[in-house]
Amino acid sequence: MNNQHIKNILKKMDEKDYDGYLLGQFTNIAYISNYFPTSFAFCIIKEDPIIFTSKMDMENAKNSSSIDIVEFESFSKMNELLKSENISKIAIEPSLDIATYKKLQNDFNLDIETFVNNERMIKSKEEILKITKAAEIAQKSFKQLDILNNKNKTEAELSYELGKLMRFHGAQKESFDTIFATGKKSSLPHSIPQNIPLEDLTLVDWGAKFEGYCSDNSRTIISSEKENEIFEIVLEAHNKAIKAIKPGLKCSDIDKVARDIISDYGYKDNFIHSTGHSLGLDIHESPNFSTKDDTIIEKDMVITVEPGIYLEDEFGIRIEDTIHIQNKGKIIGNLEHIID
Ligand code: GLY
Ligand code: MN
Repeated sequence: MNNQHIKNILKKMDEKDYDGYLLGQFTNIAYISNYFPTSFAFCIIKEDPIIFTSKMDMENAKNSSSIDIVEFESFSKMNELLKSENISKIAIEPSLDIATYKKLQNDFNLDIETFVNNERMIKSKEEILKITKAAEIAQKSFKQLDILNNKNKTEAELSYELGKLMRFHGAQKESFDTIFATGKKSSLPHSIPQNIPLEDLTLVDWGAKFEGYCSDNSRTIISSEKENEIFEIVLEAHNKAIKAIKPGLKCSDIDKVARDIISDYGYKDNFIHSTGHSLGLDIHESPNFSTKDDTIIEKDMVITVEPGIYLEDEFGIRIEDTIHIQNKGKIIGNLEHIID
């Protein structure tokens, strides 16, 4: 077994006397095996890990997985096989659904652990290259979209065109549903694009997926004086939070930098989400720049910084970049701001 991730996880399991660790989250299975399930699969990490997968995925799994593959026939067969190997204490992921939990609970002693998610916090060189390439595709596409010369188009048309450009430049797909929010709709952080033409202020939050890895950026196009005033506050929070990033600090320290600036200007209650999240195979990973996350920042974490101010019934402004943490925080890519 030469998979370093599995070796690290086995060590963590050993410290807590687990006989196995059952994974059902596709991105966790992909992370440790290189096989990306398409319907359902379970991976059991133990001395000789196995992936149980559906018949329709067998060929794909056998061709791509570094871990042995067995066809999943039923829970009773899977459980019997594991019991025959004296597996009784099993770690499960917090995302495991209750229906699956019920199929396991009578046969095993179960507890929740996040060993794989913790392992995923520090990105390898290859992972960082893929995230950087995803960001390059997304940023180049955004520039080509040339929003200021296409303001007669609708949110829905422009989000479609941005997706098309990203695929043209080599993206597998969007890393999440693109947010194109114009005028008052921009005060909803997760607004859904509609068939309405752009107004002067538009918030765009988008990303590309490249070889499984996500990028994430937000830009807000502004024009009025009031919009500019709020924009400058968000930009100050964004820039100072990035400047504050340093290995050894806590993630919550970075959230505090951004939140204190926005609060000092009187907009504490209008910053309604965390300052940032990690990304990789998933668009939202751990750790987060949030008030509650005291994870120590380490080199080669990749975390967004995306402060925002949302004024209900008026407008919202968010500025987001993705940061590769080295001796300090380095923004991935180079994307200017757009003032109309
Ligand atoms: N980019 C979407 C989000 O971070 O929620
Ligand atoms: Mn984000």
